[in-house]
Amino acid sequence: MKVRKGKLLCVGLICLDVVTTCKEFPVEDTLQRTESVSWQKGGNAANTSAVLGILGDEVDFMGSLPQSASDFSSKLMTSFVKAEMEDCGVGMQNVVNFTDKSLPFSCVILNKTKGSRTILHNNEGVTEPTFEDICRLNLDEYSWIHFEGRNIPEVLKMLDHVTAYNQKHPDEQIILSVDLERPNRKNIEQLIPYVDVLLVGRDFALGKGIQSAMEAVEHYRTVAKKRAYVVCPWGDTGAASGVAGAVDDVILTPAVPPDHVIDTLGAGDTFLGALIHSLRLERPLDDAVGYACAVAGFKCGHQGYKCLQ
Ligand code: ADP
Ligand code: FRU
Repeated sequence: MKVRKGKLLCVGLICLDVVTTCKEFPVEDTLQRTESVSWQKGGNAANTSAVLGILGDEVDFMGSLPQSASDFSSKLMTSFVKAEMEDCGVGMQNVVNFTDKSLPFSCVILNKTKGSRTILHNNEGVTEPTFEDICRLNLDEYSWIHFEGRNIPEVLKMLDHVTAYNQKHPDEQIILSVDLERPNRKNIEQLIPYVDVLLVGRDFALGKGIQSAMEAVEHYRTVAKKRAYVVCPWGDTGAASGVAGAVDDVILTPAVPPDHVIDTLGAGDTFLGALIHSLRLERPLDDAVGYACAVAGFKCGHQGYKCLQ
């Protein structure tokens, strides 16, 4: 895949994650001591851009932050997540300010015995970036724009806007990628024909009645844009990948398990960051997926994302 020079942009959610590690999953209405607790920034697009920043890419994030929030806790949480993103090298100048609500928030339980992560998420009234926000950008600065598949009507308009730009720059196109994460987002599949790299999440695929990563890629490469890369990560199985409209087989790349699974929160976001990093270096798809599995597997063996720094 040919990628022009320029920055990356990830559009989507940023939130605060409060992560608690337990020996076992708690029993309702009991008190249990936990092994550790930490705060970190979260949200798919925020995590993916942070991984890209850590891997050395020049990357900006676009999402909503209540930067002028009046209540103390919102102010504190917002400056914390913003500082963490900047520490990972992510440009935060395209953040959209919203004033009325607090920062989206997740309580996460990591179960040490099973290696599972349970997320309780609240994003009540979050204001998503809009078409007008992307119109303010100078697209000449970017080589790749990734959209977390949220707020579908606005994302469709944003994709139209970048596609119109691409039509005027046939030899220097901006690469577009989308993450299909949740099956319940209405009309999310309308994003598929626009993109050069399509991520099909396991939860999304399961929600569509698909039972494996291979099956997901076989199906979605029949509906994706010709020559688009279609990739489906599937937990400790690894990830399947294939090219739309090609006759080559879909490939299953095995996961790279750590000695001990410590923290699988954001494994998919890490996988995606490493995949984009590698594809941007114009590596072949199977190499890029192998690298993404290695980076995501390594992260699963450590708490948080600092291990990648
Ligand atoms: P999500 O965080 O979106 O649920 P997945 O669980 O599908 O994402 O994981 C994404 C990628 O992370 C997988 O393709 C795999 O490479 C890696 N991964 C996830 N869980 C493990 C694990 N237990 N051991 C090794 N690698 C893992
Ligand atoms: C992990 C994650 C967390 C966040 C949640 C939001 O993929 O981005 O950081 O709390 O998902 O859905």
